[in-house]
Amino acid sequence: MKCYDTCAAMRNWRNFVPEAGDDVGLVPTMGALHDGHRALIRRARATCNHVVVSIFVNPLQFGPREDYGQYPRNREQDLATCQEEDVDVVFAPSVPEMYPSDFSTHVEVVSHLTRVLEGSSRPGHFRGVSTVLTKLFCLAAPTKSYFGQKDYQQALLVETMVRDLNIPTEIVLVPTVREPDGLALSSRNRYLSPSDRQAALVLYRSLEAGRRHILHGVRDPGQVERHMQQIVGREPRAHLEYLVVRSAVSLQLRKPLRGQVVMLGALRIGGVRLIDNLLVRVPESEGT
Ligand code: PAJ
Repeated sequence: MKCYDTCAAMRNWRNFVPEAGDDVGLVPTMGALHDGHRALIRRARATCNHVVVSIFVNPLQFGPREDYGQYPRNREQDLATCQEEDVDVVFAPSVPEMYPSDFSTHVEVVSHLTRVLEGSSRPGHFRGVSTVLTKLFCLAAPTKSYFGQKDYQQALLVETMVRDLNIPTEIVLVPTVREPDGLALSSRNRYLSPSDRQAALVLYRSLEAGRRHILHGVRDPGQVERHMQQIVGREPRAHLEYLVVRSAVSLQLRKPLRGQVVMLGALRIGGVRLIDNLLVRVPESEGT
């Protein structure tokens, strides 16, 4: 396994190692790798000749009052994980390598997609994500790029950006990996105390309840949202940011619900911010 920390070394590998027609799979991460990241790497490993994992805690996507300083970093363990998963190249640049002092270009998807939910809760976040991903796409020139459904809005943003800018990479969406009790794996889960960890389950339980409501015929998004929000409301440790049901394609409100929809939620428990979502195809039958 090669490990590069400069853009020049990454670019050099890309220029000289893969042969024409090879698939190069990129898995962008911020490290603190867990089984969710492993699922992405395995998906890439199953189809690509070369697998590149980037590890970079991207300061541009953290707000001034967010956890950039506290974000978990464990380089040795991450490299061991990549080795175990048979990764070919780890790209782990420093902040000045990615953003020298005269760095002055940003990439921004300007649409409803980036204004709502995470976009309004975390101003500047998506601009930081699209900027760093544009750099990674330029450096690794992946033919396929792997993203988790866990960050559903991020995945939609990446699909939009790649389409709009004609970036020649195929976006592959990998289902969310969960603990046996339903909690979505996240690098931030390690900061939950045991009782907060238990309380955090309310997010998945509310999404599941929303899904059941829809499958039982409810077609009014407001009714589904109220039902989910009431469930979270009963958990005193949870501070809800949003919990909604939207079109899975545009994140627009769709009334009555039809087609593919997504329920998305964000809440805070004990200073830790958690997000999750569930996709559901609305049955064609008559609803209420
Ligand atoms: P990070 O949070 O490290 O996540 C890297 C990738 O792993 C993302 O595509 C995310 O959706 C996926 N992932 C995280 N938890 C998962 C889970 N439980 N199941 C499946 N996939 C999961 O997302 C980022 O980093 C950054 O924004 C990044 C795209 C790297 C840009 O800086």
